[in-house]
Amino acid sequence: MRTERDGLAIGGVPANELAHAYGTPLLALDTDVLDANVAWFASAGERLGIDVYYAGKALLFVQLARRIAAGGLGIDVCSLGELLTAERAGVPPARLVMHGCGKTETELDAIAAGRVGRVVVDHFEELAALANRASNDSPISVLLRLNTGVAARTHAHVLTGGEASKFGFSRETIDRAIAFAVASDGIVLGGVHGHLGSQLFDAEPYAQSAGVLVDTLARMRAAGAPAHDLVVGGGFGVDGRPDGERLDLDRLLRDIRTAVGDEVGARRLAMPRIGIEPGRSIVATAGTSLYRVGAVKRHGDHRFAIVDGSIADNPRPALYGAYHHPALAGRSSRAAFEEFTVCGRSCESDRLVVAPLPADLAAGDLLAVGTAGAYTYSMASNYNRFPKPAVAFAGRGEHRLVVRRERDADVLRNDVDEPR
Ligand SMILES: Cc1ncc(COP(=O)(O)O)c(C=O)c1O
Repeated sequence: MRTERDGLAIGGVPANELAHAYGTPLLALDTDVLDANVAWFASAGERLGIDVYYAGKALLFVQLARRIAAGGLGIDVCSLGELLTAERAGVPPARLVMHGCGKTETELDAIAAGRVGRVVVDHFEELAALANRASNDSPISVLLRLNTGVAARTHAHVLTGGEASKFGFSRETIDRAIAFAVASDGIVLGGVHGHLGSQLFDAEPYAQSAGVLVDTLARMRAAGAPAHDLVVGGGFGVDGRPDGERLDLDRLLRDIRTAVGDEVGARRLAMPRIGIEPGRSIVATAGTSLYRVGAVKRHGDHRFAIVDGSIADNPRPALYGAYHHPALAGRSSRAAFEEFTVCGRSCESDRLVVAPLPADLAAGDLLAVGTAGAYTYSMASNYNRFPKPAVAFAGRGEHRLVVRRERDADVLRNDVDEPR
């Protein structure tokens, strides 16, 4: 989002115009930013020999999947819903990888039917279920997810490595999983996967994890598996504060490559194909949530602005204290700044952010909240029976609707209204 004389613009479109066209709350995705992020990852992947799969859990809908695939990236899906979305977008199976730590029978059947190019297996039950479905005539390409034991520094709710994490095979059980996979007809053990968590800002945990992953890859090869892929996951941090930490992604990817290269060199192994799965770092900065202020009030020293969003369209601040920078969007103001607590209309304190805003902020104003592309809409619920917001693309001064706003009546659509 960019502040202009009469307010704020997203993708060259005034926020007022977007709010007028689609209503609020609205997730506006700046496609200029999105396309630049996708192009950056595609070219870095090409340059460094790294396969890039966009982690669809961050945000996924048909037009987004299509746009990201057209930009040259694969897509990591972790549910049938995400798979259906990618399929509807026309993404070929070879560009899809299936994740998930509790895959359903239907998802396992979809994998066995060849609807994804490969699958990341989380545990023994899943490995056995896939082995039952695979045969030499219809093989399944698998990576084993390893809990590398590396507990990176991040919020506990987005940490996925270390003993306290449920994900993957433990280091104690991975050899048994390798032996089982190698002995199973139709299971092609393509390599190892180790996602550490989200919101990571330095290379250190990736480098630590690389040692364990390469070691596992070596054991896979020694057991007779082709094991050519080593995926370090995603997790590249994005700080929503204007003066927040900025990750040097180019350097991080080069460091990851060097760490894997060093580990491989020390063991005299052939270099594997490295894979990454960025989610947040592709969509977070492209997204801005637009809200209408419904009321402004003061309780003692606290000044509140209540907007038409809620914990239902953005649970991140409540879940793990995420920061989204707010800005007055529909007009300019010369008023001094004062601290506001911006809240939604859920039945919790529902604090979206505490930050300075122009003191003349009033009911009817449009408020923008930045860095809102990742894990907001994709985590949205119908809590309080609020309908989910609309999503629009805005770029090069043009805009269009890409996900319809749920109607009020939509919240009733699954209720079984039995006659008494
Ligand atoms: C396996 C896996 N890969 C990639 C990601 C993407 O992480 P981020 O959006 O932080 O890049 C996640 C996030 O939970 C994940 O679980």
